[in-house]
Amino acid sequence: MQTIRTLEALRSGIAEFRDAENGGGAAIALVPTMGALHAGHIALIEAAKRPGRKVVASIFVNPKQFGPNEDLSRYPRKETADLAMLKAAGCDLVWLPPVEAMYPADFATNISVSGISDGLDGAARPGHFDGVATVVAKLFNQVRPDLALFGEKDFQQLAVIRRMVADLDFGIEIQGVPTQRDDDGLALSSRNVYLDAEQRAAAVALPRALGVAAKAITRGDDPETALDAARDTLTAAGFAVDYVELVDAETLTPGSDARRERRLLAAARLGNTRLIDNLAVLPAEDA
Ligand code: PAF
Repeated sequence: MQTIRTLEALRSGIAEFRDAENGGGAAIALVPTMGALHAGHIALIEAAKRPGRKVVASIFVNPKQFGPNEDLSRYPRKETADLAMLKAAGCDLVWLPPVEAMYPADFATNISVSGISDGLDGAARPGHFDGVATVVAKLFNQVRPDLALFGEKDFQQLAVIRRMVADLDFGIEIQGVPTQRDDDGLALSSRNVYLDAEQRAAAVALPRALGVAAKAITRGDDPETALDAARDTLTAAGFAVDYVELVDAETLTPGSDARRERRLLAAARLGNTRLIDNLAVLPAEDA
């Protein structure tokens, strides 16, 4: 596995992978990450691996997607462990750009994907999805992959990236990978390490409340009643609820049309730790 820290070395590494005349000719799959890797990230690497493909992972804790009162400085950084996990998983190249290379002092561009970025996490974290779209566009231009993979746990992020890729003609296939969960159902997240033992025990209320609400909505119960019940369950478990909403799975607009695939999304805080999760609500005939 190559570990690369300059754009020049990245470009020549990618060119070698693609060089058909010298036995290359591979397609490139990119897995962008902020490090602090867990089994959810490894599932992305596994999903990326195919004969004839090279898998590139990036590790970059992107300052532009953290708000002024968010956890940038305490965000877990575990480079040595991350590299060992990526190597064991069969990643071919890791791109570790220094922050000065990503955002030199005169950096002036912002990518804003309006509409789909505005509600839900976008409302709770102003500017967050601009930061995500800007860094992902930059990573796409640096690596120039054929395919990029993102976890469905960050469902709004995935929708924002799909919209950006379509709008800006990136010509990159975007693959969403199902959320990986602990045995009790809690979605894996780099932020779970912030939870103390009591909070970790309480956190399971999040996937459980979503599961109950998704089942109720699928069997035809009133969605607002099901959403209110989920909010109450979370509050009773000690969460401060940011939102629990039912949206159209593609547009993320309020999801009243039961003939389309919908998604139940939630964000809630336990102490200083903000957790997000989501579940599919399939159209009645597919459920
Ligand atoms: O999902 C993440 O880890 C980040 O938001 C991403 C996509 C790597 C952009 O910084």
